[in-house]
Amino acid sequence: MPEFHLRKCSSKNSGRRLIPKWKLTISIFFGVSGIALVLALMYFRWLKKKRTEPTSSSKDDSSLNLSYKILLKATNGFSSNNLIGVGGFGSVYKGVLDENGIVIAVKVLNLMLHGAMKCFLSECEALKSVRHRNLLKVLTVCSGIDYRGNEFKALVYEFMVNGSLEVWLHPRPSSANLGGNVQKLSLIQRVNISIDVASALDYLHNHLQSPIIHCDVKPSNVLLDAEMVGHVGDFGLAKVVIESTDDAKAKMSSAGVRGTVGYAAPEYGTESVVSREGDIYSYGILLLEMFTGMSPTNEMFKENLSLHNFVKEALPGHLLEITDPLLLQEMESHMGTGRGDAGRECLEMVYGIGIACSVEARRERMNITEVAAQMHFIRDKLHAAGFQG
Ligand SMILES: *[C@@H]1O[C@H](CO)[C@@H](O)[C@H](O)[C@H]1NC(C)=O
Ligand SMILES: *[C@@H]1O[C@H](CO)[C@@H](O)[C@H](O)[C@H]1NC(C)=O
Ligand SMILES: *[C@@H]1O[C@H](CO)[C@@H](O)[C@H](O)[C@H]1NC(C)=O
Ligand SMILES: *[C@@H]1O[C@H](CO)[C@@H](O)[C@H](O)[C@H]1NC(C)=O
Ligand SMILES: *[C@@H]1O[C@H](CO)[C@@H](O)[C@H](O)[C@H]1NC(C)=O
Repeated sequence: MPEFHLRKCSSKNSGRRLIPKWKLTISIFFGVSGIALVLALMYFRWLKKKRTEPTSSSKDDSSLNLSYKILLKATNGFSSNNLIGVGGFGSVYKGVLDENGIVIAVKVLNLMLHGAMKCFLSECEALKSVRHRNLLKVLTVCSGIDYRGNEFKALVYEFMVNGSLEVWLHPRPSSANLGGNVQKLSLIQRVNISIDVASALDYLHNHLQSPIIHCDVKPSNVLLDAEMVGHVGDFGLAKVVIESTDDAKAKMSSAGVRGTVGYAAPEYGTESVVSREGDIYSYGILLLEMFTGMSPTNEMFKENLSLHNFVKEALPGHLLEITDPLLLQEMESHMGTGRGDAGRECLEMVYGIGIACSVEARRERMNITEVAAQMHFIRDKLHAAGFQG
């Protein structure tokens, strides 16, 4: 105390008593607040756990994927009114993006189905590096969590206003247009779409560093835009050929993925490789279907009679008898004119290509470059003869 003018106390004794007191206060302060903090944290954790446990999901609203939200809004909550198709591994919805009004098609994968995830990954892998006017363009991939906390995977494509070739080839009463008369494809339109598909396959097989085998070429996977240009879609079964061997074969991983009955090449039933020739077989069948209007899975095709044999046996004499009645109307209007003969000749050539592509022996099938060249030739011939839209 200053008023006593005493020597400053430097005793170690008193120092020892003073400092612990000061230290003690601080220690107690931090100790107590530390324990309080830990308790508080434990309490909040317990509270949060208790709140989220009944929904068995650890995700709350803030961790929803934005893309999922946008897609939900764009498709009216994935409403059944927006459902435009149900495929092997999921459903396709039509949607409109709010911000720019772009119309999209959203394929939502049903991840409960065995193989759906693999299909999603194949498609992403195949589409990563491709770009062609006759391939369906993927705008984005959405991968996240839906509002129920389940995994959500979707592919977003540009929307094709004129739907799939399947619907055009086999119009159902419900898909007839407003006027009541069935929409039909003209000869030129069919040739154009055949060229589109051949161009897409030629690109995939021969113009990529790692060729892609589509493995599921069929009319429902060919989509038509407003100008009726064909776009090949659905790469769910596609295989990227990594080693560029002469044969461009890709090992078919695990059983089950075999394309679609009627379109899958016969060797796919026994060999465990996919090949360009397999796609060409499917293309050949597609071509025959496009001009005869007959599906390879029609009930009349069983045992020894296939679409391939059916067309082969009808040539050349019964050409018109096997041709799609919807196309025949157009052909008949040209009969007796020079145009009629040109149409007939072209039809015969198309059938010839379809047959050459779908022969049983893999090595004897036509290659797609050659197919595309011949189809172009046929179109030029039809144009020259005066066939129009
Ligand atoms: C949302 O999707 C993007 C890809 O579109 C992905 O990178 C991101 O991790 C996802 N977010 C969540 C929370 O899943
Ligand atoms: C294709 O769709 C567009 C837009 O809906 C339509 O205007 C056009 O007529 C369709 N094409 C044919 C050949 O019907
Ligand atoms: C199918 O063809 C084979 C040989 O070509 C013949 O032996 C068999 O009897 C045929 N089957 C039918 C149902 O026609
Ligand atoms: C396709 O066939 C044509 C004619 O047979 C041949 O000239 C061409 O080299 C073949 N192309 C490929 C990629 O095999
Ligand atoms: C067929 O394709 C050609 C070339 O792309 C195009 O000029 C023509 O208008 C198309 N015809 C029809 C009927 O779509």
